[in-house]
Amino acid sequence: MEGNQNDYFVVKAKENGVQVIGLTRGQDTRFHHTEKLDKGEVMIAQFTDHTSAVKIRGKAVVITKHGVIDTDQ
Ligand code: TRP
Repeated sequence: MEGNQNDYFVVKAKENGVQVIGLTRGQDTRFHHTEKLDKGEVMIAQFTDHTSAVKIRGKAVVITKHGVIDTDQ
């Protein structure tokens, strides 16, 4: 496993139905998992061998080592 691939990030949903979508690592970039969070639910996840990018739909607070992002702001 390479360097930053196992970084954690946190998503806290500010409304019902927030989607945390994992995109595949490698040549082919596609959705491989969609996790739905309801208001107040928290997901703690990593970038992995299988996941190189994450797309978040809906109002949420996203915490990474790069900072805190409110999708609403
Ligand atoms: N099976 C996925 C993986 O190991 C689980 C996962 C990790 C995931 N991080 C994610 C799914 C981020 C969605 C978003 O890569």
